[in-house]
Amino acid sequence: RARLCHVDATDVSQDLEKVLFTSDQIQARIDEVASQIDADYEGRDILLVGVLNGAVMVMSDLQRAMRSHVEMDWMAVSSYGAGTQSSGVVRILKDLNADLEGRDVIVVEDIIDTGLTLSYLMSNLASRGPASLEIMTMFRKPDAAQMEVPVKYVGFEIPNEFVVGYGLDYAGRYRNLRDVGTLAKHVYS
Ligand code: XMP
Ligand code: MG
Repeated sequence: RARLCHVDATDVSQDLEKVLFTSDQIQARIDEVASQIDADYEGRDILLVGVLNGAVMVMSDLQRAMRSHVEMDWMAVSSYGAGTQSSGVVRILKDLNADLEGRDVIVVEDIIDTGLTLSYLMSNLASRGPASLEIMTMFRKPDAAQMEVPVKYVGFEIPNEFVVGYGLDYAGRYRNLRDVGTLAKHVYS
């Protein structure tokens, strides 16, 4: 159990079985990655491209931890095919407002699992002529990788388990948890 707070009202954190990363650990790691990006892009304007909805929290925290000039834009994508398995064929539900031509772009993701979604997205974005194109992801599951995606900035590598919190959802829920962890069995049944 994440937090044993005995309240009558619903407390979604009580549905966590195991906390993998606390809010403090996540924020500390975000600060490190932000400093790294600032150092790497010294003097350049950065366009952060977030993938909705999962990247909302990391996008928000990352850019506030950065000292560079930074702009943000958003995409929404959906995998073709049913179920929780990524098919690798991606439909763009909402495209960027920004023109990527000549821009220093960093794609901001919540999690990379198989890598299929991002692999498609990267070739799509690369074709728009950015000056540079890199990836920052908060979490990555190395054991689930089916597609080699070159990721420059990784928050944490995690085991091949389904996790929620900090933007990551199960059926649309649990994105609002500050900690990241695995869900208790009773949630699935
Ligand atoms: P692929 O497999 O294409 O998928 O890299 C990436 C997308 O799948 C979702 N995903 C997760 N969502 N907990 C979640 O809440 C997880 O453990 C998880 N693994 C993958 C997520 O939307 C990600 O962008
Ligand atoms: Mg996502």
